[in-house]
Amino acid sequence: MAEPGYYGQFGGSFIPEILVATFEELVLAFEEAKADPEFWNTYKKLMGSYSCRPTPLTYAENLTRHFGGARIYIKREDLNHTGAHKANNVMGQGLLVKRMGKGRVIAETGAGQHGVATATMAAKFGFDCTIYMGEVDVQRQRPNVFWMERLGATVVPVTEGTRTLKDAINEAFRDWVSAMDDTHYVLGTACGPHPFPEMVTWFQSIIGQEARRQVLEETGRLPARVYACVGGGSNAMGIFSGFLEDDVELVGVEAGGRGLETGAHAARLASSDASLGVAQGYKTFFLQDDDGQMKETHSVAAGLDYVGVSPILSHLKESGRVRFAAATDKEVVDALSLTIRKEGLIPALESAHGFVQAFKEAPALSHDDVIVINQSGRGDKDIFTVADAFEDPSWKQFIRDKAEEYDAG
Ligand SMILES: Cc1ncc(COP(=O)(O)O)c(C=O)c1O
Repeated sequence: MAEPGYYGQFGGSFIPEILVATFEELVLAFEEAKADPEFWNTYKKLMGSYSCRPTPLTYAENLTRHFGGARIYIKREDLNHTGAHKANNVMGQGLLVKRMGKGRVIAETGAGQHGVATATMAAKFGFDCTIYMGEVDVQRQRPNVFWMERLGATVVPVTEGTRTLKDAINEAFRDWVSAMDDTHYVLGTACGPHPFPEMVTWFQSIIGQEARRQVLEETGRLPARVYACVGGGSNAMGIFSGFLEDDVELVGVEAGGRGLETGAHAARLASSDASLGVAQGYKTFFLQDDDGQMKETHSVAAGLDYVGVSPILSHLKESGRVRFAAATDKEVVDALSLTIRKEGLIPALESAHGFVQAFKEAPALSHDDVIVINQSGRGDKDIFTVADAFEDPSWKQFIRDKAEEYDAG
């Protein structure tokens, strides 16, 4: 039998000795919760009353007509409380923290969505909360920092390394080592040491369970393909896990950034630039140089800008179960623009990566085929980046006026 926490050759738990007992406690709490049907019922009830679950499956009629191929359905994770699928994971881990009797949570965040979700959960459950965030991400996701602080969290800008997500993760682990007794690290994606990849996937599997039931009810058939963007891989694992046993093609879309040929991207599985390594407590494909130093990554979407990827997805790629593609920043902005105009939906820049690939492939499928795209989050948080991309002069004037107003004050 495979060792627990391994998916083929990927995964594992490479942690400092001092954290071993904390991880054993977490594995035990997770195993007990998983074996207790009441826990999942409590989780589902909480997500129903607090976070708009089940989230709807929306038929994108206008986009379907526009592309003239497969019928396009969109799973609306953007409707979760706080605006993204991140809520599924943090509320689940919050219930676990209560079960373990701890009173403080810490988290890392890239786009800020996981930080806002964790700070929200901490406010609801009455936990102390510290969020680590790369300095670069603090700058590009300022509105999310504002909300985290209003929710009562302490946001710590991380100035090490590339000052993005991977550095925030390192800092969160450093904190955990010095505060294990009363602190739980709410890791935000299906990465990191065992049991995080499995645990985060389990909480996010609520997406796939709902999507499978909804698509069958609505169309009487399973989708030909399911698309999801891939940062660490939690929204992808969430929706894919509903269809793993079915004859459904699963497509993960990574950040192609300025283009795979430029090296300025975050495509671990869709490019040949990543290699096998052990970092941040687990074994997977990382974008690293020959000395194992992590490379700089780039994406217009802060939430996809990560050097590693879920070990479960690495395994599903190796076994041929999931296909991977990459979408460039430019393609993403174009797909976002089209989706806003045609459907009145505003996906997050991260989610729009899945839309790019679906739009490329939909025309070649037949109208009998159904495809599902996971809209992992809403785009409100991206207003500054998107306004830049669209060169919106009246938005720029509004910012100038605001700045003047503050200076005058
Ligand atoms: C809206 C949204 N989608 C996707 C992601 C990527 O994360 P994951 O691959 O774990 O779903 C993020 C990360 O911040 C996000 O905010």
